[in-house]
Amino acid sequence: MSKITGVGDKFQKETKYHREQMPRHYLDWSKKPSPFKDHENPLSIIQLPEPKFNVTNIWEIILNRRSRRNYNSQNPLNFNTLSNLLWATQGTTENIGEVNLRTTPSAGGLYPIETYLNVRQVENLPPGIYHFRPQFFDLEFLKNGDQSRSLSQAALHQKMVELAQITFIWTAIAERSKWKYLQRAYRYIYLDAGHIAQNLYLSAEALGLGVCGIGAFIDDEVAEIVGVDETEEIVVYLASVGWKT
Ligand SMILES: Cc1cc2nc3c(=O)[nH]c(=O)nc-3n(C[C@H](O)[C@H](O)[C@H](O)COP(=O)(O)O)c2cc1C
Repeated sequence: MSKITGVGDKFQKETKYHREQMPRHYLDWSKKPSPFKDHENPLSIIQLPEPKFNVTNIWEIILNRRSRRNYNSQNPLNFNTLSNLLWATQGTTENIGEVNLRTTPSAGGLYPIETYLNVRQVENLPPGIYHFRPQFFDLEFLKNGDQSRSLSQAALHQKMVELAQITFIWTAIAERSKWKYLQRAYRYIYLDAGHIAQNLYLSAEALGLGVCGIGAFIDDEVAEIVGVDETEEIVVYLASVGWKT
């Protein structure tokens, strides 16, 4: 048995399930958190076009996927490509009762992850911060002006954020999962984010784009850039996306 020395070790230990001692708490369905977030006063709302699919070989895509940190800044991303990426990561695909199932799995179907975008170079979309709403397949425009430099600085000065056409910023509203899974929810939140990011990697590869997942960032600075209150919504993961060089 390894030593329990730090907060991560304690977390792992204290959130284990034990057959004889499973957590039993009452699920108050009337208090089930909504899996959707809206902002009160977005600058505007931009409807996304339907995603378009061309035939690609999934095995080839898996084989070729790499983390890519250099991007070609000559051409902007087009709106249809952006729409495909958002759909692949968090698009809704089927309704079962009240739940909108999505392209990526989520523990308990609770969907704690929210998607924000730093847009630097997308056709017909002013640079700035956007929030994706899967339920309407649209973008809320939240902050006007390119944030690539400050986001790159927040990501420990990683240059790819400044070169990328867009950077995904995934946050989590932990309460959505904690409602059911209590402290174990954090395990599932990170796993959910991994599924989402992998869909981004693969869909981007299919579209000729490169992606790099980014786990190294100053949490408070990224939260400030996207405008989230960290007592309610935590920053989980980033990913830069741009044309391959
Ligand atoms: C959770 C996670 C966090 C990562 N964070 C960073 C990062 O901050 N900076 C970076 O350059 N790469 C980051 N990466 C990319 C890894 O370095 C990369 O996946 C690894 O070197 C394997 O290369 P591959 O993805 O091309 O197979 C991250 C990957 C994951 C899964």
